Amino acid sequence: MPKDTLTLTDNRTGKTYELPIENSTIRSMDLRQIKVSPDDFGMMAYDPAFMNTASCRSRVTFIDGEKGILRYRGYPIEELAEKSNFLETAYLILKGELPTRQQALEWENNITNHTMLHENIKKFMDGFHHDAHPMGILVSTVAAMSTFYPLGRNIHDPESRKRQIQRLIAKMPTLAAFAYRHSLGRPYAYPDNDLSYTENFLNMLFKATELKYKPDPALARALDVLFILHADHEQNCSANTMRSVGSSLTDPYSSVAAAAAALYGPLHGGANEQVLKMLAEIGSTDKIPSFIKSVKDGERKLMGFGHRVYKNYDPRAKILRKTAEEVFEVTERSPLLDIAIELERIALEDEYFVKRKLYPNVDFYSGIIYQAMGFPTSTFTVLFAIPRTAGWLAQWEEMLQDSEQKIARPRQVYLGHGQRSYIPTEERG
Ligand code: ACO
Repeated sequence: MPKDTLTLTDNRTGKTYELPIENSTIRSMDLRQIKVSPDDFGMMAYDPAFMNTASCRSRVTFIDGEKGILRYRGYPIEELAEKSNFLETAYLILKGELPTRQQALEWENNITNHTMLHENIKKFMDGFHHDAHPMGILVSTVAAMSTFYPLGRNIHDPESRKRQIQRLIAKMPTLAAFAYRHSLGRPYAYPDNDLSYTENFLNMLFKATELKYKPDPALARALDVLFILHADHEQNCSANTMRSVGSSLTDPYSSVAAAAAALYGPLHGGANEQVLKMLAEIGSTDKIPSFIKSVKDGERKLMGFGHRVYKNYDPRAKILRKTAEEVFEVTERSPLLDIAIELERIALEDEYFVKRKLYPNVDFYSGIIYQAMGFPTSTFTVLFAIPRTAGWLAQWEEMLQDSEQKIARPRQVYLGHGQRSYIPTEERG
């Protein structure tokens, strides 16, 4: 009769241990009983970069990297991208179920009512230099919001959490749009509550002198799809940051700022900006072979390729390739798209990429679409942060309600000096 246990023999001592297996995992804490002597601290698992460590139990997002599956609360990403909109998907991610018609109306209404920023936040934003990166502005202004909403620190009050979540989802596009307009020296455009979430975002970004901004429905829809695809991705670098910072029971504004800072890096949310730079540098399809050679020689990375989890394909990249074609029906076709498609074709036939299971990730096409829609490259990561706020907050809520979670605090394997005595400056060689 098979048992749900793992038997380990420590060859240092000859002792055997039986560890329970639950959900295909063993508990690292069960390893601590494995000791060579009574004063031994006990065994730990060593896992730099959390390559094979589950840090939580979650019910939000499911990914099967080998099969290229991504589902939010059980719903396949392909179905949500085709049939849902971002606000509905955010509700699903945060609350676990799709909203009824009434719940959807209330949710949209609550978000719409929170889109305005306190006028002082504008003043604060004005202090940034004209060429400040919009992501730097976003990270700082989200953090500053904690000082405007001090009640956000009541993280154990479900009603307060609900209010802060609504505020953050509602205000992120406003902060992002203001950061963008600040970098151009343009006056801020206030939210228009008649418009949908993505339409209003386009309004706050691109409204000029017209009395009422009329967004292109095809572009607003493409943005909805992009936002749906970016809404959550289980325990990635920024979600892990959100949980880790939130585990010290700080307020959600400070935690979201930390998560956004993690997203800022070129290996995470900053990758699509790098993809565009790379495609522009390649310049034409005839330069692709020499570029691929430089990647294979280890001189550089093929940005927008590879993923820690997806080792077959990234389902979001597949959806975005189609979205790119739809966007280019209403905008000018970017020559970079042809370079990207050819680059993908060549890379997918090349043994270097095949052997390492490197496929296009979500960032490979998102930058090209954003550029065609009129977004400058410096806003790309900001466009990722807006929808991902829903995922961060869902992960945060789940963490707070999980009785097994505590302040996040990994262990280390210390390899430094043993104790040594202080040497006065004059005696140091
Ligand atoms: N170009 C060329 N080679 C690559 C690439 C790439 N983009 N990605 C990985 N490799 C190679 C590595 O050099 C390594 O080769 P080796 O075995 O000969 O040493 C092998 O593939 C395995 O790569 P790792 O770095 O071990 O994979 P890891 O899971 O740590 O990294 C990551 C994943 C960070 C996404 C990586 O693939 C990468 O840097 N990609 C480019 C940046 C990018 O597109 N990031 C966006 C990720 S998606 C997101 O955040 C939304």
